[in-house]
Amino acid sequence: MPLSRQRLFSRARRSVPEARDFAVGTLTLWEIEERVDDLRLGVSELAANAVAHGVPAGRQFCVRLARDGDLVRLEVRDSGGGLPLVHPPSGDLCSGRGLWLARAVADGFGVIPHRVGKTVWLTFEVASAPPRSRAADTPGVAPVSADVPLA
Ligand SMILES: Nc1ncnc2c1ncn2[C@@H]1O[C@H](COP(=O)(O)OP(=O)(O)OP(=O)(O)O)[C@@H](O)[C@H]1O
Ligand SMILES: [Mg+2]
Repeated sequence: MPLSRQRLFSRARRSVPEARDFAVGTLTLWEIEERVDDLRLGVSELAANAVAHGVPAGRQFCVRLARDGDLVRLEVRDSGGGLPLVHPPSGDLCSGRGLWLARAVADGFGVIPHRVGKTVWLTFEVASAPPRSRAADTPGVAPVSADVPLA
């Protein structure tokens, strides 16, 4: 059965560790022991980008985890302009490689532009058996939809 959890975070630096805890805690809840470090890196980079580049002042961003079979999907949605650009690593710059690293540790990466904002996603293949149904999980996986209140 597909599972998903999502949470809103404010446009603040503290949201990056909070999003990390939320994502890693979700894997724990789902009894997935693989890919924890990869997910930790991926959510850190996407959340940091949302705060630094994506979320307009006074708005929030949404972090969503979904698990369907052997795939865990991480989505970070913001309501700002601009689009993520994956730069190849450059030896003479000290930033601009976060997305490249996140994409390198994930099995899939993409960006979905919306009328307002965008969703940046990563996928991670896992082999753990899915847990039996849990009250804390929301059945039914759907993309982060336009009605998620990011304001
Ligand atoms: N959510 C986003 N909204 C708008 N633009 C984005 C978003 N995420 C990334 N970008 C754009 O893509 C570029 C590359 O992102 P990347 O994470 O690789 O580098 P960085 O954030 O500039 O630096 P670093 O992550 O290494 O500290 C950013 O500089 C920014 O222009
Ligand atoms: Mg970055």
